[in-house]
Amino acid sequence: MTRHFLADDDLSAAEQKQVLALAQSLKADPYVAKPLEGPRTVAMVFDKPTLRTQASFSAGIAELGGNPMVVDGKLAGIGVRESVADVARVLGRQASQIVWRTDAQAKVEEMAQYAGVPVVNALTDDFHPCQLLADLLTIIEHKGATAGLTATFLGDGACNMGNSWLLAGALAGMHVRISSPEGYEPAQEMVDRANKLGAETGGTGQLVRDPQAAVAGADIVITDTWVSMGKEAEAAERLADLAPYALTAELLAGAKPDAIVMHCLPAYRGKEIAAEVIDGPQSVIWDEAENRRHAQKAILTFLSEHATPTAEQD
Ligand code: NVA
Repeated sequence: MTRHFLADDDLSAAEQKQVLALAQSLKADPYVAKPLEGPRTVAMVFDKPTLRTQASFSAGIAELGGNPMVVDGKLAGIGVRESVADVARVLGRQASQIVWRTDAQAKVEEMAQYAGVPVVNALTDDFHPCQLLADLLTIIEHKGATAGLTATFLGDGACNMGNSWLLAGALAGMHVRISSPEGYEPAQEMVDRANKLGAETGGTGQLVRDPQAAVAGADIVITDTWVSMGKEAEAAERLADLAPYALTAELLAGAKPDAIVMHCLPAYRGKEIAAEVIDGPQSVIWDEAENRRHAQKAILTFLSEHATPTAEQD
């Protein structure tokens, strides 16, 4: 059966470990893995802005011996000019995998239903699972392992990064604390889903409203923009509501002395994170950005090994 990577928990805990181990070996020797199985064109479709995702997938696919094919979502008019299902059928005949950045999670699910090839979520409103693989790889590099560590995510806990931290962190055996004001907390269903995953791995997910309490004793402190792509019209309200959750040096001082600071970028210094924190000694953001490439090569390789080349599945 063709596998997809649409949400963090599309991998089991054991598979997540396997992908991260592969990412480590690909980082150590970028050309060591066997190249992508079968046809090697990978389509990347962007309906939202991108820098790291396009750059890291393009470089990574090339390193795997593949051909990165960028499709401009606006020109293609997916869901407007033609249906998601028809786009899926077309791209599935040209590419061995489809990487898609879009808004609704239901759209990547529909693409996966009709493409006949693996589909990778390169960010939706609900999840950013490729970023989390890169983040877990970065944590392994800096902390040796993930299990048992406490990770605190500050700010907009209802966004893709908050959700992905809950699921991927719990799968990796971590204690994930989301610290958000009222109206910005993750859905209870997402917290429950994390704890269900954590029942197997020792991981947990919880909402800790107070930012000082949430950061206290943390091994990892994470934040993300307060104005995710698509939320621009709410910018002023969001900046005001989320201001008490800014990651300042003072707040970070409550975490463990060797805590690392993570941010998926783009970052807004002086808003969700102070310049002295993101540019300071505890920040590992450039490692995270680089690790997108290694982690994504690993997930593409994993999926290529689990792809059954078939006609369309509908
Ligand atoms: N939450 C952010 C992540 C950017 C990589 C957004 O969706 O814009």
